[in-house]
Amino acid sequence: MLPIRGFLLMKRCLSQYNVSLMMSQIPAPQTDNLLENTDYETLFAETLQMVNTRLSGYLDREAYDSSSEAAGLWEAMRYGTLDGGKRIRSVLAIEACKACGGDLEQILPTVCAIEMIHSQSLIHDDLPCMDDDDLRRGKPSVHKAFGESTAVLAGDALIALAFGLISRETPLNERVSPRLLLDVIGDFSEVTSVRGLVNGQYVDIQHEGKPFTAEILEYIHTYKTGALFRFSLRAGAKLAGAPESVVNRFTLLGQKLGLAFQIVDDLLDIGSTSEALGKTAGKDQLQEKATYPAFYGVDASREMVARLSQEALALLDDTEGMPAGYNPSILKTLVGFIANRIK
Ligand code: IPE
Ligand code: IPE
Ligand code: MG
Ligand code: MG
Ligand code: MG
Repeated sequence: MLPIRGFLLMKRCLSQYNVSLMMSQIPAPQTDNLLENTDYETLFAETLQMVNTRLSGYLDREAYDSSSEAAGLWEAMRYGTLDGGKRIRSVLAIEACKACGGDLEQILPTVCAIEMIHSQSLIHDDLPCMDDDDLRRGKPSVHKAFGESTAVLAGDALIALAFGLISRETPLNERVSPRLLLDVIGDFSEVTSVRGLVNGQYVDIQHEGKPFTAEILEYIHTYKTGALFRFSLRAGAKLAGAPESVVNRFTLLGQKLGLAFQIVDDLLDIGSTSEALGKTAGKDQLQEKATYPAFYGVDASREMVARLSQEALALLDDTEGMPAGYNPSILKTLVGFIANRIK
């Protein structure tokens, strides 16, 4: 029963944003990807540095006191959040905000909150009771370095801290009213709740070593990874004051990119090495995870990524509701990075 119920739940979850699942309507893939040779780290060097500096500053200010009894907890939060991570969700949120005419300061607290929740999801994902992974971002996972109970608590604390950041640090102005900010915080709560990544993580774990359907597979990826991608693009558009049609289009863009990103993650798990990834490769097969290559095979999974990328590019070509001078080229480059990434 769960597949049908779950699929319907996912459709409901997306339809509240006027987002429909279009996997069955995807056009044939195009192979000419012009964005293949983009160097992500060079292109976004300035943005990455800014995000890391701001994130570190917030953690220092809000969550670090070396003289406290809880110094070990704070250290674990910093260890799990800083020093590593591609910050792809941050870059997407920032570029979405800029493309919609917003400025950086409006989105930066939310960006840092996104990275905190993302890091929390990784800390908990690696726990022995979850994926049981000892390597993350090229170093021992938080539970290996600090112990299991500290890893659980560090994740818990990061969730709460993330909410505090968005609500306290986002500047209010003519674009961002208190009502709009509350709305963004409401969206954020869905990412972390049973309507978001926790839901996907639950269904992922439940299906380990068990048969699964195409619907369940899409469900898992749509929630466990898609939720935060949808939020990142949606919040970027919302905090720029974009109209509802644009906010919904960017949410759908997040759905496409989140799914593509996780399919590539599945592909890298079987096609790359632990050294290159900074996390243990080859685990999905061992743990009998529900993955795209396990269900469809490598070639068909790659084609799905190509199709999702083409759909994402088409969404970015839609200028309806966009400000004068809208230029989607950087976001298009990011689509290419997600499809062709090697780590
Ligand atoms: C890893 O995400 C977890 C998935 C959703 C696949 P990233 O690949 O973005 O992890 P970092 O932040 O770069 O370490
Ligand atoms: C996890 O997916 C997605 C999360 C929400 C944390 P995976 O379990 O495949 O992520 P990795 O491969 O451990 O990074
Ligand atoms: Mg997992
Ligand atoms: Mg994992
Ligand atoms: Mg994985």
